[in-house]
Amino acid sequence: MRWSTTLVLIPLLGLAAAKPVLDTRYSTFQTKHSWVQIPKGWEYHSTPPSDTLISLRLGLKQAKFEELLSHLYQVSDPTHARYGQHLSKTEVDALVQPNEETVNAVSDWLSYHGIDESAISASREWVTITVPLHLAETLLDTKYHVYSHAGSDERVLRTLSYSLPAHLHGHIDVVAPTTYFSTLKSMRATSFLQPEIPALSLKIDVDTAPAASDAVPAASCNTTITPQCLRTLYNTIDYEVTQADKNTLGVAGYLDEFANFADLKTFAQRFRPDATNATFQLEQISNGGNDQTDPGVEANLDIQYTIGMAFPTPNIYYSTGGSPPFNPDSQTPTNTNEPYLDWLNFVLAQDTLPQTFTTSYGDDEQTVPTDYAISVCNLLAQLGTRGSSVMFSSGDFGVGGGDCQTNDGQNKTQFQPAFPASCPFVTTVGGTTRVNPEIVADFSGGGFSNLFARPDYQADAVSGYLNALGDQFQGLFNKSGRAYPDVAAQGEGFQVVIGGRVGSVGGTSASSPTFAGIIALLNDFRLSKGLSSLGFLNPLLYSNPDVFNDIVSGSNPGCGTDGFSAALNPGWDPVTGLGTPDFKKLQAVV
Ligand SMILES: *[C@@H]1O[C@H](CO)[C@@H](O)[C@H](O)[C@H]1NC(C)=O
Ligand SMILES: *[C@@H]1O[C@H](CO)[C@@H](O)[C@H](O)[C@H]1NC(C)=O
Ligand SMILES: *[C@@H]1O[C@H](CO)[C@@H](O)[C@H](O)[C@H]1NC(C)=O
Ligand SMILES: *[C@@H]1O[C@H](CO)[C@@H](O)[C@H](O)[C@H]1NC(C)=O
Repeated sequence: MRWSTTLVLIPLLGLAAAKPVLDTRYSTFQTKHSWVQIPKGWEYHSTPPSDTLISLRLGLKQAKFEELLSHLYQVSDPTHARYGQHLSKTEVDALVQPNEETVNAVSDWLSYHGIDESAISASREWVTITVPLHLAETLLDTKYHVYSHAGSDERVLRTLSYSLPAHLHGHIDVVAPTTYFSTLKSMRATSFLQPEIPALSLKIDVDTAPAASDAVPAASCNTTITPQCLRTLYNTIDYEVTQADKNTLGVAGYLDEFANFADLKTFAQRFRPDATNATFQLEQISNGGNDQTDPGVEANLDIQYTIGMAFPTPNIYYSTGGSPPFNPDSQTPTNTNEPYLDWLNFVLAQDTLPQTFTTSYGDDEQTVPTDYAISVCNLLAQLGTRGSSVMFSSGDFGVGGGDCQTNDGQNKTQFQPAFPASCPFVTTVGGTTRVNPEIVADFSGGGFSNLFARPDYQADAVSGYLNALGDQFQGLFNKSGRAYPDVAAQGEGFQVVIGGRVGSVGGTSASSPTFAGIIALLNDFRLSKGLSSLGFLNPLLYSNPDVFNDIVSGSNPGCGTDGFSAALNPGWDPVTGLGTPDFKKLQAVV
């Protein structure tokens, strides 16, 4: 059997019907990923019938990933001659295409197990096969079970360990679903309601509404944040959008979080009257829903503040679903139910992409299998190469929430970095609070990856901080890891309309859409000058630390410590990154 993963799904031709002879290569297994214990929060539920159908997604090794990365860094480096010359979908697809040797090796393996073309589909570097569970277990030398999540009705079909024939390790990067448990409801949205902060009334109070020309934010911004506060504080208030026909901002949503149209209208009437007619486009992925009777806090926050910042730049809200709770009696194939992979593969299949994305979800990095995390991070690199800027919230638990114990069987206390915040190809946004001066929001997630090495673009900034830190927190974090956040923005007391009423919402979930809104305006500015979009931001940002307001007060406690201090060293810190943006200064450097 031969197939190829060219740009479109190609009909599979030329199937060899040879009867397989015993080949020991296919039973010489090597572990791909394995947990030492059932991931926290999950428990064994049941063992499904062996004829249950499962769809496995195989991430094939990309033939020219190193080349893709060198393109990414060249087109994102403001000092490089190719700055801004992003690649098209066709060009990126050609780079991520697996080579013939990989396609043949995988093809032979599937054929050996009698899997025929009707069970296989291929797109870019991904191959999906739909097979009975017993066959999946043979292919991966594993056992699948149903696991249930404490405190929710979520049930998933997963394994604690999987293997591949040794000779395929160089050809297959990841197989999903296997050992990544954190899906949908267990994946954390990085926002929370703040009932202790009294919300503003829906009635416009003339006395506290600052004039649009105010150069300084109103005193009320010290506790309650509105688009007016943010636009004044970060200097975007005078900017006029001119490229709304070309520029788009995308908000990635998961977890059955629905953005509500009526709430957006109410929000705009109260907090951004010139945007009263604002709306957003909805993209539903993998059965993602759109229940307008069930507005989500996270979804409404993201939509109201990206529009609050960047109106009239059009917005797309992606509602990414997954399969319903696993039902062993059903003959419907179990969906791969992997939210990032579903979303990323959907957007990367589009010919044109929003120039700016924001995502406010994350997991502890240690709960994400290494092979899975690397595959997702590499997909995020493709977005940058194609000219999109990708923002992620840095997390809401400082240097780590809970008991901060490692899950490697040793139960050591360690700071807990978050993923995808720790992926070097995204711009990670931490949180601040108060005005005059703006200080750290103490939940602001920050730290050092155990998975991804420190990229060159932040080497100087981070070593400055590490030198000042000395041996404090020695052994609690990885000094050679990718450090985050990269930047920060306000993250407390956001006034959000939910179900027709105003509530105060906090979290780095508020910071990421705020920063993304500012980047969308910068993209508008670049496009208005006939320039490209900004694409992957970090090399540009780290080479212009002066365009940020350095945050020098506060720290991000967690894991029984006070966390990293922003006061330790001027400039970058693992609490608020380079600081909060000054749009006018950013405009001057882009
Ligand atoms: C903001 O609030 C802080 C703490 O509540 C207070 O110390 C500070 O003076 C306030 N700043 C302004 C500008 O009102
Ligand atoms: C909203 O749309 C209505 C109807 O098209 C129009 O009359 C009104 O001026 C618009 N409002 C704003 C703030 O643009
Ligand atoms: C680590 O903690 C788990 C429970 O979370 C426990 O089952 C295990 O025995 C502990 N291991 C060690 C080495 O303490
Ligand atoms: C520290 O990070 C590096 C990547 O920068 C990684 O190779 C190494 O395994 C990490 N160490 C630990 C103890 O996690």
